[in-house]
Amino acid sequence: MAVNHAESPPRLEPGPLLAATHNQGKVEELKALFEPHGFRVVSAIELGLDEPEETEATFAGNALLKARAAMRASGLPALSDDSGLAVTALGGEPGIYSARWAGEPRDFYRAMERVEDALQASGSADRSAKFVCALAVAWPDGLEAVFEGEVHGTLVWPPRGSQGFGYDPVFVADGETITFGEMAPDRKHAMSHRAAAVKKLRAALLA
Ligand code: IMP
Repeated sequence: MAVNHAESPPRLEPGPLLAATHNQGKVEELKALFEPHGFRVVSAIELGLDEPEETEATFAGNALLKARAAMRASGLPALSDDSGLAVTALGGEPGIYSARWAGEPRDFYRAMERVEDALQASGSADRSAKFVCALAVAWPDGLEAVFEGEVHGTLVWPPRGSQGFGYDPVFVADGETITFGEMAPDRKHAMSHRAAAVKKLRAALLA
């Protein structure tokens, strides 16, 4: 689904593009996806920008909030990603709370264990889940656009692999036998929820 908040968003011109995230895993994936198109991806970490509180109820809402804050602080076109894992038997949880399920400081083994415990407690045999990604762009002139992508799969236990980040070690995409945590990064980047959202963004905003 593409949610365009701008009537006809302008093309993104190759040049500096601010990745409005403090998640190094996302920065690496966004660099891999955008740098081949001539963009120089600068991260909010490098610029020392604060991370705004995610107060919206949807991936798209939180992605826009983050892009807007980073664009205002830097004056650059900003790209943000709000993403997470939605588990069918848990009614879509942890969803927008995926990072927060890892506690403070972030511990994703704990978050994966919490998902597994909730699945066991649900009594459901349905282990299907999806990763969802909303990518938002905010331009200095006030225009905004959001694009969403998903990848569907199944949750495994125990976690497998040390590639990727977050919930990657427990997620096997449909048609695959290895987890995202076991997969070569290039292969994950070609099939991820982020890649699906980037594909829509590219079609709408890149020349
Ligand atoms: P946020 O978008 O920064 O609020 O956090 C999203 C959270 O969802 C991340 O911290 C990860 O835990 C999880 N997540 C998002 N994308 C991925 C992915 O590609 N692999 C594994 N976990 C992900």
